[in-house]
Amino acid sequence: MSAAPPDAAGELPLGVLGLGHVGLPTALGLAELGWTVAGADDDRDKTRMLERGEAPFYEPGIGELLVRHLGTGRFRVAASGADAVRASKVLFVCVGTPQRDDGAADLTQMERAARTIAANLDGYKLIVVKSTSPVSTTRSVMRAITEHADGGHGWDLAVNPEFLREGQAIEDFLDPARIVIGVESERARDLLLRVYDPIIRRTEPPQRRNGAPPPARGGAGDDKVVITDPGTAELIKHAANAFLATKVSFINMVADLCEAIGADIDDVTRGIGLDPRIGPEFLQAGVGFGGHCLPKDLQAFVRGFGEHGVESALLEAVDAVNRRRPGDFVDRVRAALGGLGGRTLAVWGLAFKPGVDDVRDAPSLRIVPLLAEEGALLRLYDPQAMDEFRRAYRGPSAGVEYACSAAAAAVGADAVLVLTEWPEFLQADLASLRAKVARPLVVDGRNCMDRAAVARAGFGYAGMGRIPLEAAARLAGGG
Ligand code: UGA
Repeated sequence: MSAAPPDAAGELPLGVLGLGHVGLPTALGLAELGWTVAGADDDRDKTRMLERGEAPFYEPGIGELLVRHLGTGRFRVAASGADAVRASKVLFVCVGTPQRDDGAADLTQMERAARTIAANLDGYKLIVVKSTSPVSTTRSVMRAITEHADGGHGWDLAVNPEFLREGQAIEDFLDPARIVIGVESERARDLLLRVYDPIIRRTEPPQRRNGAPPPARGGAGDDKVVITDPGTAELIKHAANAFLATKVSFINMVADLCEAIGADIDDVTRGIGLDPRIGPEFLQAGVGFGGHCLPKDLQAFVRGFGEHGVESALLEAVDAVNRRRPGDFVDRVRAALGGLGGRTLAVWGLAFKPGVDDVRDAPSLRIVPLLAEEGALLRLYDPQAMDEFRRAYRGPSAGVEYACSAAAAAVGADAVLVLTEWPEFLQADLASLRAKVARPLVVDGRNCMDRAAVARAGFGYAGMGRIPLEAAARLAGGG
């Protein structure tokens, strides 16, 4: 490791620009590590909520940390972006980089952040970009600072991608699998290492929520820190999400073949996942990957290949497989019911994954309109994402109703469609459900239901590449 950094002693106030799904867990996680953090966001409604100690979105653990660190004074809501810049020596840029209609990343918020930083440089600052921007762009966007900044204050740029999963963002921040630091100077490197030192050197594993076992290791350790240049750090982020997307599309493609030949995807997943070179994670077949990251980052990555004249057929196929998933699922429902017109369907799950209220790029937003367009009557239910879905839904409204519970959605239904693997669906009282539905059929878009239990309760079952129930039951019984 390096010699003691020039900033090793004294205060190291931190700032965060953008308090969304990345910025807020980052700000509160840094406060939890003991740093003093000023966080800013342009959305006044959001900052007012935060000042009152209310989390602006659903993310386990975030409300607790917010109240705690407003209380300790280690986190404060800055009056403005300018305030956060001026209050900090290390500034994390966590603003959104949404997708434009033409598929390219919209860097407006990054550019605005760069201008705010430039106008408020009142001494040396390390600017740490966490926002996911297209390959090779962070440097040019942030270089705009040089054009605006005067006064001769120095600054450094670092790219420090986040690998936070929604629903586990706090745990992922405090107990990361790796820390990637893309820097151009030793000073920047040493400052960032100092910020993360409580994680890197930790001897006690952090407390896990829900009684989950602590990781075997202590701190992330030096071997989990990747120090590189900013461009490579950007690439690591994109390559990681693209690889995860590739695993999901791969297994979905294999699930289709399973269905065609009568093989079982669960056994395939187990059979290949036990190979440590492959691993069991991200091999759950279903209606496809959604969320604000995997789909848009994959498309931005493909664009990046194109812009640099590098072939990306593999990743284009990953995207194509995923785009087909919602339609493939609707085909299965249609086939199982012999048509969709006039059928009443309970839709269980709207969030792009369990544990979140987020529907951005969720498969539900594609599946519901397809079903409604064919004349199905839909009763939608999600434990957390109903409001978000209502706001985001752009499909036909005729025949689309919202139910107050999973059971209410199922009353008189011709099929129960599972689009998100929420625990409450897995634990549903199937016997009482059987008495409510018009026709006992579960179409499981996440392969999450216990198909033997579903069958015992008298339901027909269709999954995504799972073999017919009778065969599964016979094999499970050793017959
Ligand atoms: C993803 C990455 O997992 C994080 O490491 C990364 O930091 C984050 O994007 C980001 O770029 O900010 P997230 O969007 O929270 O995190 O969601 P994931 O848990 O990755 O799930 C993505 C989608 O894939 C979900 O729709 C999920 O249902 C689907 N999925 C996941 C499957 O269909 N099968 C699987 O086996 C796993």
